[in-house]
Amino acid sequence: MELYNAIHNRGSVRKYKPDPVPKDTLIKILEAARAAPSWANKQCWRFLVIKDEQRKKELAASLPKGNPATRAVETAPVVIVACADPKASGKLEDKDYYLLDIGIAMQQLVLAAFAEGLGTCWVAWMEEEAIRKTCQVPEDFRVVALTPLGYPAKEATSTPRKDLSEIAFEETWGQNIS
Ligand SMILES: Cc1cc2nc3c(=O)[nH]c(=O)nc-3n(C[C@H](O)[C@H](O)[C@H](O)COP(=O)(O)O)c2cc1C
Repeated sequence: MELYNAIHNRGSVRKYKPDPVPKDTLIKILEAARAAPSWANKQCWRFLVIKDEQRKKELAASLPKGNPATRAVETAPVVIVACADPKASGKLEDKDYYLLDIGIAMQQLVLAAFAEGLGTCWVAWMEEEAIRKTCQVPEDFRVVALTPLGYPAKEATSTPRKDLSEIAFEETWGQNIS
């Protein structure tokens, strides 16, 4: 699949078919995350693949009331939990680069999933300690995000973006690109 197609047509999927994700497809999309760049190539990330029904229920219960992805986490055939070790990445001027590392890797996974016909939905509004307990995540790792993964039951609707002129400048702040 052409990269720009994935970039522009991916959308958050919150309704999934129960069909399982084939193992070779799952490995392909995890490999896409593995290929991501990271601070000093430290690869501070770890990904947990959750398929167990009870564990998915517990993950869904770890999302605060009102999180629109709750049902998707419970019903998608797979949930991927993205964790990172802050000490295995950099921190400069109070900026924690482990968040960037895991963000890049996760988005590569999301785009690869789209290329495989699979839906995803970034989820970060969650109770970290509850997820840590459910998945036995060690104390030195942060649980940064998760995504349901599966074949979409309903296509994602497209969501608007700011105009390019609002977010991209030339030379100095606020100057339009000529
Ligand atoms: C860091 C991050 C955290 C997010 N957390 C949640 C979440 O907890 N629940 C949810 O339903 N969507 C969540 N989203 C999805 C966003 O709401 C969604 O990406 C945004 O509205 C744009 O829509 P699109 O993904 O369909 O393009 C999150 C997205 C990002 C990037």
